[in-house]
Amino acid sequence: MRQKIVAGNWKMNKTFEQAEDLVSEIANKIDDNEPDCEVIVCTPAVFLEMASDYADESQIRTAAQNVSEYERGAYTGEISAEMLASMEVGFCLVGHSERRKYFGETDEVLAVKTERLLENGIIPIFCIGEVLEEREAVKHFEVIENQLNKGLFNLNKEEFSNIVLAYEPVWAIGTGKTASPEQAQEIHSFIRKLIEKKYDAETADNTTILYGGSCNPQNAKELFANADVDGGLIGGASLKADDFVKIIQSF
Ligand code: PGA
Repeated sequence: MRQKIVAGNWKMNKTFEQAEDLVSEIANKIDDNEPDCEVIVCTPAVFLEMASDYADESQIRTAAQNVSEYERGAYTGEISAEMLASMEVGFCLVGHSERRKYFGETDEVLAVKTERLLENGIIPIFCIGEVLEEREAVKHFEVIENQLNKGLFNLNKEEFSNIVLAYEPVWAIGTGKTASPEQAQEIHSFIRKLIEKKYDAETADNTTILYGGSCNPQNAKELFANADVDGGLIGGASLKADDFVKIIQSF
């Protein structure tokens, strides 16, 4: 079901104490002033239990930043979808560009991770987006279509209805260079048309598509005002409660 969502991707930041301060500050602020969207914190895995305790008492939802493609067993250092589900983690990022770039995650691996999550009732927040050279060569439509075809369009309609998408142009991540509202809308509507072509109009209309890439309290309102932008995946600006809550209040 299409939802408005603001999700904070903390990446590899914060100590336990700082993490607890941030979650409790966000929880207090949004509980005082009911948000018009779902609020998710994608914390490092070691902080998920603490964040889930806050989630029980507040409107915050928790997400992992990564999951293993394997079910269980001798995979030292990995965290399974089953483990996340047992901690009542509701969402998990899949295919963030940093995972694709630094950890060599391919669309094929991401398709398996997505399957693991869906089997365990966790909603994947599946990230797609082009790098600068691809945008400059006007290949961004093709890149996005390929990422969807290989990573997600193997799902049947029912499975796909549990996916949240995040369009994150890689050139906008952590660079302070945001996509313009027009650029975001253009790609979001393109993505929705691809979903319609693959499944049907109802599925396309029901899919939540977030924008990510240097989204901040100054530009969030304009980005979220677009017909096909259902919210944001926020990196840097999610590390300060005030900024994150201002973005939440942009709806
Ligand atoms: P940013 O990161 O907001 O710092 O650009 C977004 C993301 O990587 O999800």
